Order: sequence, then structure tokens, then C-alpha cells
Amino acid sequence: MKHPKSILITGGSSGIGEALALDYAAPGVFLGLTGRNRERLDRVAARCRAAGAEVATAVVDVREADALAAWMAGLDRQAPLDLVIANAGISAGTGSAGESDRQARDIFAVNVDGVVNSVLAAAALMRPRRRGQIAIMSSLAGFRGFPGAPAYCASKAAVRVWGEALRGMLAREGIEVTVICPGYVKSPITGRNDFPMPFLMEADRAAGIIRRGLAANRARIAFPRRLFAAAWLLALLPPAWTDPLLGRLPEKAASEPQPGS
Ligand SMILES: NC(=O)c1ccc[n+]([C@@H]2O[C@H](COP(=O)([O-])OP(=O)(O)OC[C@H]3O[C@@H](n4cnc5c(N)ncnc54)[C@H](OP(=O)(O)O)[C@@H]3O)[C@@H](O)[C@H]2O)c1
Repeated sequence: MKHPKSILITGGSSGIGEALALDYAAPGVFLGLTGRNRERLDRVAARCRAAGAEVATAVVDVREADALAAWMAGLDRQAPLDLVIANAGISAGTGSAGESDRQARDIFAVNVDGVVNSVLAAAALMRPRRRGQIAIMSSLAGFRGFPGAPAYCASKAAVRVWGEALRGMLAREGIEVTVICPGYVKSPITGRNDFPMPFLMEADRAAGIIRRGLAANRARIAFPRRLFAAAWLLALLPPAWTDPLLGRLPEKAASEPQPGS
């Protein structure tokens, strides 16, 4: 959608979500932002208001379907939602111990169930007016499973494929769906990574790419191109060729779940 005026971003309190909120913030724009941390959310909201936007915030956990849907419906009554970006997500952190059992469950709960909750609530609101756009935050990690982040990769693959299919289904109802697959973007969580991140990008640059892709109603916004090509190639090659290489990559730590990639 070219010039969305009413935009909801889950996980708008930090990283890519914050950068998107700031990018869209302007006079005449209504922003709905969620996150779990009230302080961070208020800080982002204040910056968006300074840029002229009207902002509503809520500490809502995307895993709580009813609370999320109720909040979204309230916002929609205030300013019918043009664009909903299901961005909130977590990963296991960084280090050398992979994902714990608990982390794996939490990652699926937030990155899959949380996205499903956000997208279904958005579609229900947009369907009657046959208008609106839904963006789903996947990742280049959703093209091939990496031994260091199995649940994270699987969660991103699930929402990517779901979004690709939903695009065709919801197009019949006048709703646009886009899947976003970023590579490494600077955010609180990649800031803690202790391994080299190829083509690491600033969050505001990523937000610009995402915004332009959404304005053009692209099916998939995958960037940076060279990392996307590498992810695509890894997915195409037989696992017997790629497993030895992937087995040598750094793993995520078994610390408590952290937001981000
Ligand atoms: N950074 C990357 O390199 C990268 C690459 C590909 C994809 N992604 C994806 O991009 C999205 C944003 O990540 P980011 O890097 O910007 O990380 P981030 O800075 O940690 O942002 C994550 C956001 O999600 C929110 N959040 C987490 N769990 C939530 C929950 N249960 N309910 C509601 N909100 C929740 C966080 O809120 P609080 O801070 O208030 O807790 C925060 O606003 C994620 O889906 C991530 O997987 C990131």
C-alpha cells in the first residue's frame, strides 16, 4: 500500500520495529505500537510524536490472542488499520550452547503463535472493508535450518510459507500480504552476537527497504541481496553437501529467550 495512514507494529519498542515506527512517523499518521517493555515503548512513542504522528501504545504480549485482538479492534475503531506489521519476535541469544527445550517452546510461541494471533486479528478487521495490508516478519534464516538456531529457523520458515500462501488467499478479499526476510540487522540482540555477521545493516536502512517494498506490495522483501542468494543456494543444495559447513557455524546460547534474531 502506497501511503498507509494507520499502521500497527507489533514489537515496535525496539530494533527493526522501532526503526519502522520512526520511518512512518509523520503528521497525519496514526501508529499503534506494542511491546513488553513500557519504558522502551514510551521512548519510541515520544520520538514518533515529535515527528508529528499520533501514537497509541500498549504492553500486550502477542501470545495472548484475546488481549491482542481486543487492543487491535480498539485501535481500528479509532483509525481503521491500513497496515499491520507482525514483527515481534525472539531468538535464543548468542553463545555456544544452542536452544534449550524451554527456549525452543518460547520461540515457537512468540514467533509462530504470536504472528498467527496478529495476522488473524488484522485480517478479521480488514476483511469487511476489503482493504488493508499485512506484513509478516520472517528472516533469511527461514530458508534453511541452521544447527545453532533450529527453532528460530523453523519458526521463520513457518511464517514465511504461511504468508506466501495467505497472499493468494487474502488477495481475493482485497487484502495485501507481504513476507519480510531480512539478513543481519543491527538491533539489541545482534549487538550481543560474538560472531561475524555478513552484510550487517543499520535498522533505519532496513526500515527504508521494507517500507519501499510494502509500498510496492511486493510478495517478498528479502535483503541484502547477496545474503539472500547465499540462503537460497543453501536451501537448494543437498543437505549432505551443506551440513558439514553449517555444523561449523556458531550456535545460540541456552540463556533465557531474548527478543530479536
Ligand atoms: N535483527 C536481525 O538481524 C533480524 C533479522 C531477521 C529477522 N528479524 C526479525 O525481526 C523482528 C524484530 O527483531 P529485532 O532484531 O528488531 O529485535 P528486537 O530489537 O529485540 O525487537 C523485538 C521486538 O519484539 C517485541 N517482543 C518480543 N516478544 C514479544 C511478545 N511476546 N509480545 C510482544 N512483543 C514482543 C520486543 O518488545 P520488548 O523489547 O518491549 O520486549 C521488541 O519490540 C523479529 O521477528 C526478528 O526475528 C531480525
